[in-house]
Amino acid sequence: MRCSARKPEGHRLFAALYDRLGAAAERAYMGERRARLLSEARGAVLEIGGGTGANLPYYRNLERLVVSEPDPYMREKLRPRLAEARVPVEVSDADAQALPFADGSFDAVVATLVLCTVPDQRAALAEVRRVLRPGGGLLFIEHVRAEGGTARWQDRIEPLWRRLLAGCHPNRDTVAAIEETGFRVVSLERFNPPVPLAGFTPHVQGAAEAPAAG
Ligand SMILES: C[S@@+](CC[C@H](N)C(=O)[O-])C[C@H]1O[C@@H](n2cnc3c(N)ncnc32)[C@H](O)[C@@H]1O
Repeated sequence: MRCSARKPEGHRLFAALYDRLGAAAERAYMGERRARLLSEARGAVLEIGGGTGANLPYYRNLERLVVSEPDPYMREKLRPRLAEARVPVEVSDADAQALPFADGSFDAVVATLVLCTVPDQRAALAEVRRVLRPGGGLLFIEHVRAEGGTARWQDRIEPLWRRLLAGCHPNRDTVAAIEETGFRVVSLERFNPPVPLAGFTPHVQGAAEAPAAG
């Protein structure tokens, strides 16, 4: 049998550049937004698509934190940053579309800049709903579909964008998908990040509640 040193599928270059490409945005607005979003997280928390661990410094006083990241190159970047977390972290290689956790096992799920990238967003949201306890919260910051002519430009550029940015889709109506999965959106802020061409990547920050049991 031949052994191969090749890693499972991942995006080596994207993972290598991710923190450098995002550094200005973290300083300008994402760091503050992550802190605000994650101050709402309580109890047992699952973060999907944790990437290089940009959210880790902002978690406080949790009972349990699982950060899932299926890309081995991203996990390589994430591991050294575990020291920045103020809560113990369990790292998982779980794919958000097939989470290896029992129904109702988390009080909150965190998704930041990941629902744009999971190949099957509906499947991932259904899994998020399943692993949340009834009434549990989905906390999110995502870039989403624009309106009118800008959305049509997003559609046109999507194939190239997806190839350049590790599977990211610029044109997903993520809030609609969250609602169609059965969540009730309880807070929502739509904003354009303070960067050039921001209208092309409108963002949303918010929280949505999983349906109560019954
Ligand atoms: C743009 S990065 C965002 C990383 C991080 N959440 C952040 O806020 O900086 C998108 C992440 O989604 C992850 N991802 C892609 N497909 C996924 C899937 N099916 N399940 C979970 N995560 C996935 C990628 O590996 C990548 O780490």
